[in-house]
Amino acid sequence: MIYSLSSIANIAKSAFHLLLVFSLSLAFLASGVASAESEAKKVDEAVQKALDATPDVEKGKRLYFNCAVCHTPEGWGSPSGYFPQIAGQHQSVILKQLADIHKGNRDNPTMMPFTKPLFAKGTQALADISAYIEQLPMVPNNSIGFGMRLEEGKELYIENCKKCHGDNGEGDAKEFYPRIHGQHFKYLLRQLQWVKIGKRRNADEKMVEQFKIFSHSDLAAIADYVSRLTPDKELLADHLDWRNPDFRSGFRTAPKAKQEQ
Ligand code: HEC
Ligand code: HEC
Repeated sequence: MIYSLSSIANIAKSAFHLLLVFSLSLAFLASGVASAESEAKKVDEAVQKALDATPDVEKGKRLYFNCAVCHTPEGWGSPSGYFPQIAGQHQSVILKQLADIHKGNRDNPTMMPFTKPLFAKGTQALADISAYIEQLPMVPNNSIGFGMRLEEGKELYIENCKKCHGDNGEGDAKEFYPRIHGQHFKYLLRQLQWVKIGKRRNADEKMVEQFKIFSHSDLAAIADYVSRLTPDKELLADHLDWRNPDFRSGFRTAPKAKQEQ
């Protein structure tokens, strides 16, 4: 095939156009990334400011009504682990998780829309709601695993998890290490599996590295052991039938919040 001079010029022109379009879109993408970064920074600053603020638990209570449909009025989540217990969690952890969910760092499509209005309300609202959740007493009978490899679960926990999550799964508020004792077994197991396969993108890097060596059955053994660690008595509701008095009786929760194991 013989190219005429003008067709060569045309090819060159369209190549130039393509290049132009390509570089323009790169610039556009880069500006998108930059604004996403500054948005993420704003969210992190909001978390820090919320931790420094003096919370108004009474106001937090009203904000919490939006969350209770799924997490239940008590904040106990569902025994099936579909919704996690959030009652009693360290305020710092609650704030960090909300920020991570808001930024899309956790694969959590159900929960994401609820974080937007919260962050739009500002740091005081964040302080209020997280303080309210932290002071809710925890469920006294969280669901536990099958009890198959508890000794191995214990050994693996002590060797690999204790240094951050503590002897008894109590975590560390200052370091943003979550309280994991008292949590429903299936939720724990799901999170551990998600960390292993990289689906929980906000996960601590050192934690992720460690998880690669665990088999599914190791993770189940660890989750089982953790689900049986009990929080201090003063953190727990004093009886199984405790109901959050801030809610009227008959408050309706999502069907999945009731689902049994
Ligand atoms: C439509 C249901 C739904 C609503 C409403 C909802 N959440 Fe959640 N939330 C979830 C689910 C599901 C998860 C667990 C997702 C996962 O497995 O990663 C979650 C996770 C969380 C976590 C992280 C828990 C942990 O242990 O890491 C926090 C904190 C939380 N929610 C707080 C709230 C607050 C505060 C509100 C109200 C502003 C709220 N949620 C409203 C469904 C909901
Ligand atoms: C280097 C410190 C570190 C080690 C070691 C570590 N974790 Fe974590 N873990 C964290 C941090 C920080 C988070 C919260 C950040 C995140 O979302 O991943 C977390 C989150 C979790 C969560 C999710 C809690 C929730 O409420 O959603 C579970 C479950 C968990 N870790 C269990 C474990 C287990 C089991 C081990 C040992 C096999 C372990 N971790 C080892 C630091 C650590």
